[in-house]
Amino acid sequence: TAVLKTEFLGQKYENPFMNASGVHCLTVNELDELKRSKAGAFITKSATTLERAGNPEPRYYATALGSINSMGLPNKGFQYYLDYVVDYQKNDSDGKAPFFSVAGMSRDENINILKIIQRSDFQGVTELNLSCPNVPGKPQVGYDFQMTEQILTQVFEFFRKPLGVKLPPYFDFAHFDIVANILNKFPLAYVNCVNSVGNGLYVDAASESVVIKPKNGFGGIGGDYIKPTALANVRAFYTRLNPTIKVIGTGGIASGQDAFEHLLCGATMLQVGTALYEEGISVFERLEKELKEVMTQKGYKTIEEFRGQLRTL
Ligand code: DOR
Repeated sequence: TAVLKTEFLGQKYENPFMNASGVHCLTVNELDELKRSKAGAFITKSATTLERAGNPEPRYYATALGSINSMGLPNKGFQYYLDYVVDYQKNDSDGKAPFFSVAGMSRDENINILKIIQRSDFQGVTELNLSCPNVPGKPQVGYDFQMTEQILTQVFEFFRKPLGVKLPPYFDFAHFDIVANILNKFPLAYVNCVNSVGNGLYVDAASESVVIKPKNGFGGIGGDYIKPTALANVRAFYTRLNPTIKVIGTGGIASGQDAFEHLLCGATMLQVGTALYEEGISVFERLEKELKEVMTQKGYKTIEEFRGQLRTL
């Protein structure tokens, strides 16, 4: 029978599934639920220096095809999560040590947080979120190519621990090329494609209204809507980046087949956002079962046999 064991950055995981940062990872209680779940690994909510309440509610809304959110980075402040991951490292040896997500509001804030992580006892993986679409007045860093390069230049002057970046979706080959060229200049551990598709607008015709309060209803789109865009970004970066830079696939993973498609495009780990929000942590057990079924039906015993092997016509 098929096995889902996955090696990522020298660590062995039971399976490739994780939560997407932001979903089910705000509090120690939620993080502990992920730890006890069937997820192969997990990640903390993107942290800022200080605790944030986030945007006014309602700020998340699910539709038949996905979700729209404008949470606005509610989080408990980076020290809360740093304490959690360092403590985990000391006391848990279950092999699914949490990744640490960081989303400073400015270049300086990101640099300051990463300096503290560098000096800390944390030996795990850090994910720098360059793609939050939901803080009014703060454009997504990943769409500012110069700023992206500047931040990474400054970060790698001192940062020596494994670092990945969470990217926004790109929609043009010129942008895939420019961003991949920038990323290839740095000793990145991975890129995570993609964050939500920024600033969509969901309209409820019956009430003739938007469905979330922040930004007059504009928010990041997730779920089924975005799978083709997510797969395109996974594939575009998988085929452009140095092979030492791994790809995490995020966007529209709600079934074993969705997971299989991301792996075929070249993803190593897989993150689940909307489907986790809607279904709860039991989603991981279902996804594992379904992915194994897809693999068995196709005659694959391990993920390595098909990862990245997407055919073209
Ligand atoms: O869709 C998202 N929502 N992506 C992020 O990076 C942040 C999050 C939020 O807190 O708004």
